[in-house]
Amino acid sequence: MTETILAHSGRTLVAGIIGWPVAYSQSPRLHAYWLAKHGIDGAYIPLPVAPGTLAEAVRGLVALGLRGANVTKPHKEAVMPLIDEITPTAAAIGAVNTLIVGADGRITGTNTDAPGFLANLRASAPTWNPARPAVVLGAGGGARAVCAALLEGGVPEVRLFNRTVEKAEVLARHFAQHHAAPIRALPLTAEAWRAEAADAGVVVNTTSLGMTGNPPLDLDLGVLPADTVVADIVYSPLETPFLAAAAARGLVAVDGLGMLLHQGGVGFEAWFGVRPEVDDALRAYVLKAIRGE
Ligand code: ATR
Repeated sequence: MTETILAHSGRTLVAGIIGWPVAYSQSPRLHAYWLAKHGIDGAYIPLPVAPGTLAEAVRGLVALGLRGANVTKPHKEAVMPLIDEITPTAAAIGAVNTLIVGADGRITGTNTDAPGFLANLRASAPTWNPARPAVVLGAGGGARAVCAALLEGGVPEVRLFNRTVEKAEVLARHFAQHHAAPIRALPLTAEAWRAEAADAGVVVNTTSLGMTGNPPLDLDLGVLPADTVVADIVYSPLETPFLAAAAARGLVAVDGLGMLLHQGGVGFEAWFGVRPEVDDALRAYVLKAIRGE
């Protein structure tokens, strides 16, 4: 019996994830894996915070001596005016997903989705050529992180396709204040796709099309060069119909799970002092939870 007891010491470093609902997050499992692997006296716990109590919860992090927290839906934008400092990446994206409590009690907010996406793209698709234009599909919160990552990664232009082209235009104007390379807003139509995707170095789907329960994304991948990398930020299912079609054509396909794992590593290092690795064993471990095994 005694060997099954997981006791925390009086010095345990604590972080967590603020969201509502938060029960389905894979982050506690991800961080528990790394804490165990590195033998760190730490804990990462779910922090269910209802809308309306976010300000108290954020100050509570400091009062309770937590190292920080991840922030997920629906609080990623609402948390911004409640903290002391916002990194340029988070300001450009317009959302914070990671809070770090400093030794002086000040809270810094950053966004690890962009570096997570970029690190995963580089690791999973070493053939990706950032000197070519990038194509991003969708203009929601996920697209903002992906655009920031690709511009950070050095692409000369992002071609941003969205069903509601006005939303893509708003995003493009916003990013023009933060980055020199342009974002060009385009309608998500077969004609625009054929005309503007043919020289893409990478195509990233950030729309909800292809996610479990939604219709698939229907675009002709035949227009893409043989060395284009195709990525999806969805990880449920792990292989979306769009990624399956890309793989069937022989294109390098990058799924959304790697982005989740890589973004977690940035927060983990800030809270627990070790930059953890993303490896196949971790992928398999988190995948089992996603599949309910
Ligand atoms: P997130 O914050 O997760 O990125 P979101 O802000 O809800 O999610 O954005 C969803 C994206 O999927 C949007 O780009 C949306 O297009 P609109 O801006 O036109 O709504 C896109 N999307 C959702 N359903 C779609 C559909 N049936 N066809 C095309 N695009 C769709």
